[in-house]
Amino acid sequence: MLTNKLIDSLSSQGWYVWDGFLALSDIQMIKQCLPKTLQDARIGYRGSLQENKTIRGDQTVWLEPEMGEPVIHYLDKMEQIRQALNCQLYLGLRDFETHFCRYPKGGFYKKHFDNPKGVSRRKITTVLYMNELWKPTDGGELIVYDHEDNHLFRLEPVAGRMIFFMSEEFPHEVLPTETNRESITGWFLTEKKL
Ligand code: OGA
Ligand code: MN
Repeated sequence: MLTNKLIDSLSSQGWYVWDGFLALSDIQMIKQCLPKTLQDARIGYRGSLQENKTIRGDQTVWLEPEMGEPVIHYLDKMEQIRQALNCQLYLGLRDFETHFCRYPKGGFYKKHFDNPKGVSRRKITTVLYMNELWKPTDGGELIVYDHEDNHLFRLEPVAGRMIFFMSEEFPHEVLPTETNRESITGWFLTEKKL
């Protein structure tokens, strides 16, 4: 796997977009492993986890190797990336947690950081998009800002595209989507997950 561009880009600008990270057939196979019912997404951390539909409107399920071979394959790929990042960027990434997300029509996620205040266990955010028929009128783009809240870029959530960014450097938001919007979000962590 060619991780040179990812590593160069993360160290110079803090983010990288990898188009064609997974083939459409791999994405379809992962979708087939997922349970029919998902959980309403929550915000906050451990003790203070809460549902808040005014901030985010997606549903999620954590990915587990028990879901099947296509999920194992994905987790293996992310493990190889974790090791490459540690070897070359010395980030001390110790684990990876990842969930599938579905935003129904009208769903969005207001501007946020991926760590609750005072916590920095999520170091790098990864989002793999799974929308094979996405078109501009569908909305649901990701908007990434810098620390001064300047708009940096807008990303269309098209299937196979993966974005990596430093979790603590970029506030970001998901614009309202007009159709079901599917993705796998993950985080490389500085501590082992529970
Ligand atoms: C998140 C998130 C972005 C996206 O799940 O924390 O910001 O484009 N996702 O789905
Ligand atoms: Mn986020």
